[in-house]
This record gives sequence, C-alpha cells and structure tokens, in this order.
Amino acid sequence: MSRIAVVPGSFDPVTLGHIDVIERAAGIFDQLHVLVVHNPAKTALLPVAQRVALIEKSIVDAGLPDNILVTSWSVGLLVDYCTEVGASVLVKGVRSQVDVAYETPMAIVNRNLGGVETIFMLPDPAHAHVSSSLVRQVASLGGDVSPYVPRAVAQFLQSPATR
Ligand code: PNS
Repeated sequence: MSRIAVVPGSFDPVTLGHIDVIERAAGIFDQLHVLVVHNPAKTALLPVAQRVALIEKSIVDAGLPDNILVTSWSVGLLVDYCTEVGASVLVKGVRSQVDVAYETPMAIVNRNLGGVETIFMLPDPAHAHVSSSLVRQVASLGGDVSPYVPRAVAQFLQSPATR
C-alpha cells in the first residue's frame, strides 16, 4: 500500500526549516503532499498561488525527490483533503514546546474528525529559530532574509516589484 502524507501549513513564505522537514518527510513516505492552506487567524503576505509557486521552485532548486506534490486547499477541513487523496498522516515541524502546545489540539481534532494521525518532526537545530512570521517582519523592514529562506524566496521578497 502506498503511504501518502501531507505537510500542511500557511508557508507565507516557505522557509529553510520547512524545506528541511519536507525533505526528510519525503524520504519516509511514498508520496508527500505539501499543502498550502489559508489560515484566517493570520494576516497574509503572499497570495496562496504565489506561495505554491515559491515552494515548487525551492523544491526543484534544492534537488528534492520527485515524490513531492505542492498544492493548495481552501474548500473545507484539512482532513477532507486527506480523505480525497488517500493520505493517512500529517507531518508537522515543531521547533519548541510552544509549537507542540499549538499543534497538539489540532492533531487531536484531526484524528477525531478524520482518523488522520499527526507526526511531529524536529527541525534541524540550524533552523530552530526560523519562522515565516520572522521572515515577513524582516522583509517588510528591508532586512536580509537570505539566511532563513530558499534563494527563490529571498529573490522574490527582495525584488523591487515585491517591496
Ligand atoms: O502554518 P500554520 O498557519 O500554522 O498552519 C495551520 C494550518 C493551516 C495547518 C491549520 O490552520 C489548518 O489545518 N487549517 C485547515 C482547517 C481545518 O481543518 N481546521 C480544523 C482542524 S485544526
């Protein structure tokens, strides 16, 4: 049986920490879906389609395997997407106890709603301090985000047309 897992998130924008988790999860599962979901609790920087495009480019640039699909979901519960594509596992990167506390209720609800298990993956310590919100703040104030994000993202955020 083919094991399909989903890495869901806002990815606004994708960071090197996300890419690390995506790469390692892709090595564990037969297929990995990176799913961009609009989170209404957050003020978005990038449109969802732009986030998808930047993840796709970053994955190619990093030479990640071809069992990764990048897509988005906006029409219902995350577990509905999982049911639609036959995924039984969600993978979430957790950098700290704060992340564990944030992710735990969602993991329980997703298991109750759709029988989908959540696996928490520890990021490489090199990326433990990196978050999309930090990147958004540094970028909005004109700082250099290249230590935190794939090259395609840094180029996009720092291009005059974006700023
Ligand atoms: O990167 P984020 O913003 O922490 O990701 C949160 C996200 C998008 C994964 C979460 O908000 C989510 O799962 N949204 C989908 C809606 C849903 O299914 N909610 C109920 C279970 S949490």
